[in-house]
Formats: sequence, C-alpha cells, structure tokens
Amino acid sequence: MDHFLYRDGRLFAEDVPLANIAAAVGTPFYCYSAATLTRHFRLFDEALEGMDHLICFAMKANSNLAVLKLLGDLGAGMDVVSGGEYRRARAAGVPGERIVFSGVGKTAAEMRLALESGIRQFNVESEPEMQALNDVALSLGKIAPITIRVNPDVDAKTHEKIATGRKQDKFGIPISRARAVYAHAATLPGLKVIGIDVHIGSQLTELAPFEAAFRKVADLTHVLRADGHDISRLDLGGGLGIPYERSNADPPLPRDFGAMVKATLGDLGCEIEIEPGRLIAGNAGVMVSAVIYVKQGEERDFLIVDAAMNDLVRPSMYGAHHDIVPLIEPAPGIEAHVYDVVGPVCESGDTFAKRRAMMPLSSGDLVAFRSAGAYGAVMSSEYNSRPLIPEVMVSGDHFAVIRARPTFDEMLNRDTIPEWL
Ligand code: LLP
Repeated sequence: MDHFLYRDGRLFAEDVPLANIAAAVGTPFYCYSAATLTRHFRLFDEALEGMDHLICFAMKANSNLAVLKLLGDLGAGMDVVSGGEYRRARAAGVPGERIVFSGVGKTAAEMRLALESGIRQFNVESEPEMQALNDVALSLGKIAPITIRVNPDVDAKTHEKIATGRKQDKFGIPISRARAVYAHAATLPGLKVIGIDVHIGSQLTELAPFEAAFRKVADLTHVLRADGHDISRLDLGGGLGIPYERSNADPPLPRDFGAMVKATLGDLGCEIEIEPGRLIAGNAGVMVSAVIYVKQGEERDFLIVDAAMNDLVRPSMYGAHHDIVPLIEPAPGIEAHVYDVVGPVCESGDTFAKRRAMMPLSSGDLVAFRSAGAYGAVMSSEYNSRPLIPEVMVSGDHFAVIRARPTFDEMLNRDTIPEWL
C-alpha cells in the first residue's frame, strides 16, 4: 500500500494534492511520500523480527539526502556502491558502522575513504579486489572487515539486465571456488573475514530463486565454519520485486520473504543483513508530468508529455511498465482512449508506453507515472540538454523541494570553452 490515492476526484500524495505541488514547482517533477518510505522500511524490519538484523537500504535506488536521512533516522543502514554514495550516506547522518560497501569495481581511493571514515564491511567480489583491499588496509594500519560475495549460479527469473546470480554474470566469485578463496582471504593480514554475501538480481517476483540461493549459503556456512572461518554475518542482498502493474499477480511480501529467511538460515545463529532498494522506494514515488500535445498519427494517437526518457529511463532501457494515471480521477464509465505515451526527446526510444488505454486527455492535463521512486531520478540525465527535474518530499499535509530544478545557467556553466578556441 502506498499513500498516492484519489480523494474527491484528485490524486493526492498523503494529504497534499499533487496538482498543488505542480503549481508550485512546475512539471515534470518527482514526488516521494515519507509515510510510504517509512511503512516499507518497517515492513522489512518486522519481517526479520526475532533475528539479529540490519536493513541496509540499497541507495542506488534513490540517493536523495532527504530520503537517506529519513531512512537512516529509522535505523536503516546503507548499501553503497561508490565513493559518491558513501559520501551521501555520511552526509545524511548515517554512521560508518551501518554502511556496507558493495560493487565489483571498488577503487583503492574508495577503499581508503571508507576505511578512514568508518565502514561496517566490504562485500568483496573478486580475488584481485581482495588483494587490493588488503594492501590499502595495511597501508593505513587497519583491518578491513569483509564478506565475500558468492555467485550461487541461480536464475533469478528476472530481466536479463538485472539478473546477477548466474555463472555468466560478472558478480561475485563462483560458489564452487568459495573454499579456496576464503582460505586465501584468511592468509591476508589486512582482512578479517566475517561472513558471506549473496545478491542474485532485482525485481524478483517469486521466492523460489532466493530460497535456492539461501540454501546454498546455508550449506556453505557449515563448510566454511568447518574450515575454521568465523561466519557470523550473512548479507542476503536485495531484489524483492514490486507490483508495477497492479492488474498482475502481486510479488511476495516482505513478511513472506522474512519467513523464508528464518526457515532457511534461522538456525545458523548469524546476524542477517538485507539490501532492499526498490521495495522501499519504488512505490513511494511518482513522477508528475504535463501533456504538451495530443497528436493524431496515421495509425495511432500520441500523448506527448513534458517528461522524457532522460527523466525516467526504465521504459526505454528495460521495456519496463509504469502505470500512468491522470491527476483528475476518471469519471466512472468514461470511455478509454488508446495512446502511445511519448516524451519530447528526438528518438523513437523515448516512449513510455505503447497502446495504453487511458481516459481521454488534452494539452495541459497532468499525469503521474507510478512506481517511480526507485531507479527514477537516480538514473536521469541531461540528454537533449534537458535540466534534471526537481524532487519533492511530502509528509502529511506539507511538502518540501528536496532537490531544486537547476537553472539553464547552472547547466551551461558546468561547461568550459578553452581560451584557445
Ligand atoms: N544489493 C546489490 C548488491 C545490488 O546490486 C542491488 C541492485 C540491490 C542490492 C538492490 O536491489 P533491489 O532491492 O532494488 O531490487 N536499474 C534497474 C535495477 C538495477 C538493480 C541493481 N542492483 C531497474 O531500474 O530496474
């Protein structure tokens, strides 16, 4: 459940009509609901109750400082994948001991930053990385706590571009080599092995692939303990999917996920970490856009909106579906019209939806793209020299701009023309 609902025919974010925000900040913009973010975080927290656990928000999904501060204040940790994300987490007030560092290509500079400023653990993904981290830690006179990410060779049954746990994927070390790699890690004086990490993909709509991976992690825990390693923490990654199309069967809930974690790993006495991103932020955000023109084509009608693929890239990048709803609730019984919903960017890939049945709309009408709180603003660009769009957070009956729309001058001033031109 989220807090974007129609009231008296108007779409609200919590207690604020989205049209009021549009009037104040202009379109397009992202809008997040604080109550929804809170609710989704708590669902995971409750799901893992009874197990020692930490929920590390995968901030690649949404790294606005206000979102991080809200979740951090609720007790969330952060899963970061770059020095930039690490800095954002710290700037939002999250202490180093609640930050885990994931990613296949951590640089020595990023390792140094995290080791000097405080880190809960590194999730190491390869032997060269392990060696590099050892060297950096020793040069600083520190010991880096690590888990090693294993690739369990499980098909997450999700989109090709976001599956990460098959042997052809670039992530982790093959689980078949885990004993050898852990043995190597134990010889490196700058590292302290504390656990195992696994993440098999994103937008999973079934529990079975998770369960298959977690069973392999449970078996590996026994094997590694017998080899003398201290395995006291299991990082299970993120990946639980959300219902993008409300008409489809809904993915499992955090409580189903939690029950499965307890059943597969609960008797190991390990601290459990999870790294959800999408489930916390996805349905806590919408992108609001205005119709610029309705254009009648030869074969179909186009709804040309003022948001584009540079603002929300998921439909053009993954063929992803986002529900698109008008800010004025359609009157009951109104006959739907079929549109291709497109943006102004100069390529045909700038299409949000094809042959989508919607209520008839006209120039100036406002629409909301739902489920846009995760992998929305963070993946945006200035393609076609379109300034990044603002982000707004609503809490109850008030809202604040949490990232302002840059001016054209700000955008232009980042470029430099060399004096010899
Ligand atoms: N942990 C690790 C190591 C990850 O790589 C990811 C996502 C997560 C956690 C969080 O997964 P989530 O709970 O959000 O599914 N841009 C794509 C999604 C890329 C996900 C990458 N890794 C999209 O828009 O669908």
